[in-house]
Amino acid sequence: MLADKDRIFTNLYGYQDWGLKAAQHRGDWDNTKALMGVGQDAIIDEIKASGLRGRGGAGFPTGMKWSFMPKESKDGRPSFLVINADESEPGSCKDREIIRHDPHKLIEGALIAGYAMRARAAYIYIRGEFIREAETLFKAVAEAYDAGLLGKNAAGSGYDFDVFVHRGAGAYICGEETAMIESLEGKKGQPRLKPPFPAGAGLYGCPTTVNNVESIAVVPTILRRGASWFASFGRPNNAGTKLFQISGHVNKPCVVEEAMSIPFGELIEKHCGGIIGGRDNLLAVIPGGSSVPLVPADQIWDCPMDFDGLKEVGSGLGTAAAIVMDKSTDIVRAISRISYFYKHESCGQCTPCREGVGWMWRVMERLRTGDAHVEEIDMLQQVTKQVEGHTICALGDAAAWPIQGLIKHFRPEIERRIAEAGNMAEAAE
Ligand code: NAI
Ligand code: SF4
Repeated sequence: MLADKDRIFTNLYGYQDWGLKAAQHRGDWDNTKALMGVGQDAIIDEIKASGLRGRGGAGFPTGMKWSFMPKESKDGRPSFLVINADESEPGSCKDREIIRHDPHKLIEGALIAGYAMRARAAYIYIRGEFIREAETLFKAVAEAYDAGLLGKNAAGSGYDFDVFVHRGAGAYICGEETAMIESLEGKKGQPRLKPPFPAGAGLYGCPTTVNNVESIAVVPTILRRGASWFASFGRPNNAGTKLFQISGHVNKPCVVEEAMSIPFGELIEKHCGGIIGGRDNLLAVIPGGSSVPLVPADQIWDCPMDFDGLKEVGSGLGTAAAIVMDKSTDIVRAISRISYFYKHESCGQCTPCREGVGWMWRVMERLRTGDAHVEEIDMLQQVTKQVEGHTICALGDAAAWPIQGLIKHFRPEIERRIAEAGNMAEAAE
């Protein structure tokens, strides 16, 4: 279990004040100028050496992403950092806790990361429904400006840096990085084709890096304690500490910081008081937020909770939001409900997603009630394959994967429902 002294988010549960003075007492904003003084390239090298991978779900190496940003401004164009606080993935609720209770870690991280990638300003795009969290963030940013930690000569570093907080309006798709950029520009939030990636042409056509809240908030601590300290947690290629979010059928759902690669069973036993009804009552887990395939009970218990471990069992770490389902769960209904979510949130600009995701949900609903033919299971599987990888953004994949996981692991349950509904119809005739 991660020792208290190794926790980055020391106020995760809000036992102390989130304000500037209390944050400084906990070590935030401690000689930030000296952290920046090592120079921009040295900061990027340290983040690369730490092994930090993006905490928003995709796991792209953070230091490498920063290194894509230009070192010199072309045609006087500024560079920007955009921080993705649009946390909307079903099951995910970690960035919300950081903003509620540790906002200064995020703001200090924004200054250091922004400086490292030579950005003029950071835009924190916060989910529209996070009303209280946005209030906290506005106040924390104002405190930082009042204390000279942001703005001209930020934290006495000689570097000018602004932070703007922008509230979203409740669209899941605006969490996709290029839809977020469109939304920040005042347009309808629809993903752009990539490439170009934002580092080439992002906000207002300028070089931009989009990072998740957690990815940025851990940066000051990594620099203070050293890359090798951070890299000492987890397995190679899966380094660091991580905020795990566990919901569903556990005795104590929680958000907890743990070392990467902790086995799923240990995470549940140590922090969540176990599965309701005991380990034998576990049916399946969606380990990384709703966009990744479910993993059945017999494959998840000893699985390391990291990028590689979950890939090996056909799923993914995603946002590390584990949705735990016990044997009382109607698994077909659960996946059908997720399917409805993606249908509802599709932005509609590409055909496989606009048409396919709604079609998949309608078939899922018939499979739920058993009002379908057995052949439709394979047809549904084929349609998910036609959507996967054939859309502008990852929403198409996210809609396809949970259904693929269901068919792979619970086909007999789907067939049982169809047979049962058929028998009932026959009996009624
Ligand atoms: P992605 O793999 O396309 O990109 C990840 C990051 O790496 C992006 O910033 C992208 O610009 C950058 N990148 C990738 N290849 C690059 C290249 N060749 N050159 C330069 N930069 C490159 O994944 P995406 O679409 O950004 O995220 C998908 C993930 O988001 C899903 O796996 C899901 O887990 C997660 N997600 C999280 C949500 C949340 O609430 N936190 C909501 C929905 C999805
Ligand atoms: Fe929009 Fe769906 Fe296409 Fe993404 S995959 S751009 S959400 S239609």
